[in-house]
Amino acid sequence: MLSARLSFAREEGLFELPEGGRVCVFGARGDDDLSLLGDQVQVVQGMKPDHDALGALGHDVVVAPDGTFDAALVVLPRARDLARDRIAQAVDLVGDGPVWIDGQKTDGVESMIRALKPLGTIGPVISKAHGKLFCLTGATLPGWHAETTSLEGGFITRPGVFSADGPDRGSVLLAGLLPEVMKGSVVDLGAGWGYLSHHILHRDGVTALHLVEADHTALECARHAITDPRASFHWADARTFSAEPVDHVVMNPPFHVARAADPDLGRAFITAAAALLKPAGHLWMVANRHLPYEAVLDEHFVKTTDLSDDPAFKVIHAERPRRGKTRRA
Ligand SMILES: C[S@@+](CC[C@H](N)C(=O)[O-])C[C@H]1O[C@@H](n2cnc3c(N)ncnc32)[C@H](O)[C@@H]1O
Repeated sequence: MLSARLSFAREEGLFELPEGGRVCVFGARGDDDLSLLGDQVQVVQGMKPDHDALGALGHDVVVAPDGTFDAALVVLPRARDLARDRIAQAVDLVGDGPVWIDGQKTDGVESMIRALKPLGTIGPVISKAHGKLFCLTGATLPGWHAETTSLEGGFITRPGVFSADGPDRGSVLLAGLLPEVMKGSVVDLGAGWGYLSHHILHRDGVTALHLVEADHTALECARHAITDPRASFHWADARTFSAEPVDHVVMNPPFHVARAADPDLGRAFITAAAALLKPAGHLWMVANRHLPYEAVLDEHFVKTTDLSDDPAFKVIHAERPRRGKTRRA
């Protein structure tokens, strides 16, 4: 864990920050303890739940760095190209100042050290709690900034967003099984870079579409691709998002939190979908077949049908949300 490595490094006299200097922290999570970094910290975090949790702790939290900095700390994400981009941004920001890099082994910190060795100076490496923390200085990182990828259909993606190389197979299956006629207002819950929204907006009967997405970068990609005036964009946590009741919710819910598989997040999406729907509303959702969503679907909807015989994915049509059962998780 970041805080364990930071305090160990501090105790050993290996972690020094410029006196009174401003520190830019990339990618800290909501439960990371940043108190050892002093009070001149700005955190760059585009995932809304982490962004809000860090803000609630009193941190200055932004989606892009703002101002000048004397040092940086990069918390490695799992996506390699996103990690490289964050390190390159940190190096740009601090010039000759220190860039601390922290990561779990499962997030590729060891291969990152190997990749950086020929490109800059790496100080002592602190190994603790299944991860490593080290300081990089004097690095030149040509080609490490993230590129935008253009996909067929006018979509764009950036490293780290879900399914950045092209549409997810489950989403393609769901898009193909949505009814030809959909009327009224729709929420695309966890809209990503807009693949499902694009298909929803092909239906003339749709009067309004809310794209709800926690990942700021993904939502910006969706904004680029979806220019239909019926669409509105919400950088929000699906679990707490609220709107006037809608006729349909469409979703391919996430099933990971940070690194860990977590069906609770998908279950919370189902609870949130039921709460967003009108009494005669419909939920259309795809999920890996092995994910245990049946109990929560039965709890929140009177009728549930699996529209797919795909061995890997179930495509669920759930109808008639149960009133009084739609409290959020
Ligand atoms: C499986 S992906 C599906 C993306 C898109 N709908 C598609 O079909 O390509 C799930 C999406 O939910 C987003 N997400 C994760 N946690 C979220 C939350 N708490 N609130 C809103 N969106 C969230 C992820 O960033 C991701 O884009």
